[in-house]
Amino acid sequence: EAAEKGGHASFMEKEILEQPKAIADTLLGRTDEDGKLVLDEMNIDPDRLRAIDKIIIVACGTAFYSGLSAKYAIEHWTRIQTEVELAHEFRYRDPVVDDRTLVVSMSQSGETMDTLMAVKHAKELGALTVSICNTYGATIPRESDAALYTHAGPEIAVASTKAFTAQIAACYLLGLYLAQLRGGTYAEDAQAVMRELAEIPQHVDTVLGSMDRVREIARFMSDTRSVLFLGRHVGYPIALEGALKLKEIAYIHAEGFAAGELKHGPIALIEPGQPVFIVMPAQDSPYDLHAKVVSNIQEIRARGARTLVITERGDEAVRPFADEVIEVPRTSVMMMPLLSIIPLQVFACELATAKGLDVDQPRNLAKSVTVE
Ligand code: AGP
Repeated sequence: EAAEKGGHASFMEKEILEQPKAIADTLLGRTDEDGKLVLDEMNIDPDRLRAIDKIIIVACGTAFYSGLSAKYAIEHWTRIQTEVELAHEFRYRDPVVDDRTLVVSMSQSGETMDTLMAVKHAKELGALTVSICNTYGATIPRESDAALYTHAGPEIAVASTKAFTAQIAACYLLGLYLAQLRGGTYAEDAQAVMRELAEIPQHVDTVLGSMDRVREIARFMSDTRSVLFLGRHVGYPIALEGALKLKEIAYIHAEGFAAGELKHGPIALIEPGQPVFIVMPAQDSPYDLHAKVVSNIQEIRARGARTLVITERGDEAVRPFADEVIEVPRTSVMMMPLLSIIPLQVFACELATAKGLDVDQPRNLAKSVTVE
């Protein structure tokens, strides 16, 4: 097993470091020489895809958060209404689904029973089902109309990391492909976005190479009992995923919130010394979102929060209110989640390791949940 870990303390640590390759391999071979997306492997009649008027992404846990992250871009690029729902909730309500609905399931293992049941239900209702999956030939892709595989390689650690970023990349491919097929404003942009996406593995590598301070903070915080995570827009699902990682492997009470929701309740939790991670939106985000989150940081800092801010390089506006600034390379708005999740994965992994916990096999959890 030590050999399989390749000299790393845990599979999770190894898999975090494998993300540049996981994303690059997921993008590989999916464009032609002009940079146009080619997803023939899905084998779906393009006319069926052109007719789609609603997308529902179904998944559980980390895969659900990757769907939430991708929703912003998919809806923006395709102009198709996109919902993201926990598979076990979708299955047992009465969802509005017909043959113009595309149900995208997201699953690393391809064996999650809740997600499988949701896919079967969607098929019964007449939806077109596409499985984004990391395990070739698993049950969910076999039961779906089409599969788009992530090529993250086997993920051993119970806490999902490289599958998460690869899932976002695959969702982006699907979104851009739909935009390209359907024409319209974002069809022309698809190639430019693909070029940005192609640069992400390099940027992830840069982030991974600058994590010493994050590891130090994690070790220093190993007896912390509660950590909050705030994010807005594409940063919101990242806050949720950062909190899940900490709960799962470090057994620390962690909560993710939409930054705009603070004043509707969660701000009451802030007391002196409360650590809060803030996942900043890109500086050029629409609707002044960046400035809005800076003002959230001010509000919680004034109440004594210890603010750990993940933001783009060169973001001077946050500095006066940040106890720690964790920088990632500058990219476009939609690419940011692929970078800002990295410090949160490293933080959870290092903190759990510092606590002496079994990072790869956290208590009460299984890698693949094959019961409902
Ligand atoms: C992730 O860290 C979790 N262990 C868990 O939430 C997982 O993502 C979820 O069970 C879904 O698994 P899947 O991707 O294999 O369907």
